Amino acid sequence: MMRKSYKIAVYPGDGIGVEVTVEAVKVLKAAEKVFGFALEMTSFDWGVAHWRRTGEVVPGDFLKTLQSFDAILLGALGAPAELPDHVTLKPLIQMRQGFEQYVCLRPAKLLPGVKTPLAGKRPGDIDLMVVRENSEGEYVSAGGRFKAGTPDEVAAETAIHTRKGVERILRYAFALADSRRRGLVMATKSNALKHSMVMWDEVFEAVRGDYPAVKAERFHVDALSMMFVARPEKFDVVVGSNLFGDILSDLAGGIVGGLGLLPSANINPEKAFPSLFEPVHGSAPDIAGKGIANPIGAIRAAAMMLDFLGEKTAAAAVEHAALDSLAAGQALTPDLGGTARTQDTGSDVAGRVRRAG
Ligand code: NAD
Ligand code: IPM
Ligand code: MN
Repeated sequence: MMRKSYKIAVYPGDGIGVEVTVEAVKVLKAAEKVFGFALEMTSFDWGVAHWRRTGEVVPGDFLKTLQSFDAILLGALGAPAELPDHVTLKPLIQMRQGFEQYVCLRPAKLLPGVKTPLAGKRPGDIDLMVVRENSEGEYVSAGGRFKAGTPDEVAAETAIHTRKGVERILRYAFALADSRRRGLVMATKSNALKHSMVMWDEVFEAVRGDYPAVKAERFHVDALSMMFVARPEKFDVVVGSNLFGDILSDLAGGIVGGLGLLPSANINPEKAFPSLFEPVHGSAPDIAGKGIANPIGAIRAAAMMLDFLGEKTAAAAVEHAALDSLAAGQALTPDLGGTARTQDTGSDVAGRVRRAG
């Protein structure tokens, strides 16, 4: 039988994005050998390095280049000392929006071997999935600056929420909750955002009847943030707008003991375009170049990619290898209290994948 083969675009980006992507690729290469599929990986040196050479962070036709791939594996973007974030990060938003990756999945679990800053919580107590609307809302860039630099300056940034966009992400979240522990919480703020969030509330109430088994609630995002800290075990699936989902996912990283652990899948469920897999964290300029970034989030994002591609056994093996490595505690990076280097953690996980075969 022909080995199944997938075309993967690897876009390491900037800062620790490059460092953690090396490790994710190392683990994928181990999985490929053990589980008998082939990954045809093409690396793109885009980001601040590309900007230094060409004056742009990505080529003008980068979306066209990426379109023929089965998936994109991204590290992280951002080099704030050299370029404004809205310049370096623009390609990420363009991929999510241009490729209709309207679902962003960000699982956050408290794992054995990892300490949470929350007192009294044990592994298994926190196991939630942030489902983030990923294609519109606060991120559409509708606005402008007027009279810039003068005392009369005005900045406008209009969020655009479509009924279609809200309904599809809510239905996705309801269906996902139905397949998990049947709890769904929606982040709202309809006490102040009386147009957009009132529509979110209305669509939520309109679709919930189609998922009678799901215990569905909505909370204002301020109170919800408090509950993430005070009662995180309460949450199963948490759905929110683009910006609310962004904020809640880093908060989720905090309560489960480290942003560096969290993966993220930006999915076009219809598979009309490639989906994008990345860690939740950014390029971490404060530790970039030191070789101490935690690669677990990037490795687990690679596992989510394998799962999405249909390589379920390999995906589960990579995820388990990452979790076993954490639980064993011999290859923890400094953010988790260890002394391992990024490459030690990557090699430890890759070794575990090899032994799983
Ligand atoms: P960040 O996620 O890069 O870092 C926040 C903090 O967490 C830092 O102290 C960092 O050292 C730590 N951290 C993050 N990932 C870690 C890891 N894997 N191992 C160990 N520690 C880790 O967020 P920030 O500082 O707000 O942003 C830095 C840059 O990254 C900015 O340019 C920002 O715009 C960009 N950013 C990019 C993405 C992305 O590409 N998806 C996501 C978030 C932020
Ligand atoms: C994320 C990041 C991005 C976002 C930024 C860097 C544009 O924070 O992926 O969570 O806000 O979506
Ligand atoms: Mn974020």
